Amino acid sequence: MTRSVTPLTNAERPALARLLAANSLPTDDLDEPGRRFWRVADARGTLGYGGLEVHGADALLRSVVVPDERRGAGNGRAVVAAVRAQAVTLGVERLWLLTTDAAGFFERLGFQRVERMSAPPAIQSSAQFAGLCPGTAVCLRADLARATA
Ligand SMILES: CC(C)(COP(=O)(O)OP(=O)(O)OC[C@H]1O[C@@H](n2cnc3c(N)ncnc32)[C@H](O)[C@@H]1OP(=O)(O)O)[C@@H](O)C(=O)NCCC(=O)NCCS
Repeated sequence: MTRSVTPLTNAERPALARLLAANSLPTDDLDEPGRRFWRVADARGTLGYGGLEVHGADALLRSVVVPDERRGAGNGRAVVAAVRAQAVTLGVERLWLLTTDAAGFFERLGFQRVERMSAPPAIQSSAQFAGLCPGTAVCLRADLARATA
């Protein structure tokens, strides 16, 4: 099925915020500078969202979310692939993320568990690392040249 990947519009932002909040993911800093979000859709409508905070060759992958009714059909994988492709065009070489519930999902897509302290300072000082995510969150990294999503 043909998918579109489009930068999130201001009009679409509340829908993303609602979905993130419903999944206990951070929404406080969505409007801060340096965040980019995309909506991925097909003929049935939105199949998911994902975002990046880019810091040179490193970026925080964040706000990956699929609506409940669209899960379990490869849409999460499609969202990560779409955001990853955007990251490559932005010159990103490594993706980092924190997750409390979806480490297994990202590991299936080629991410590797790493020590949180191994992230570069710019990533560690992001709002998510600094406090928006609980301290129990798992840190994962993907080298874009080697990941297999
Ligand atoms: C995590 C999430 C994006 C997965 O979306 P999805 O559309 O159900 O995922 P997919 O169908 O593309 O799954 C891809 C693979 O990962 C597996 N998978 C999905 N969720 C998983 C999880 N939580 N843990 C382990 N594996 C998982 C699937 O079984 C599938 O495996 P396969 O390749 O063997 O078939 C979705 O559950 C979600 O939005 N969760 C809430 C938000 C969240 O936690 N986001 C991550 C933090 S940013």
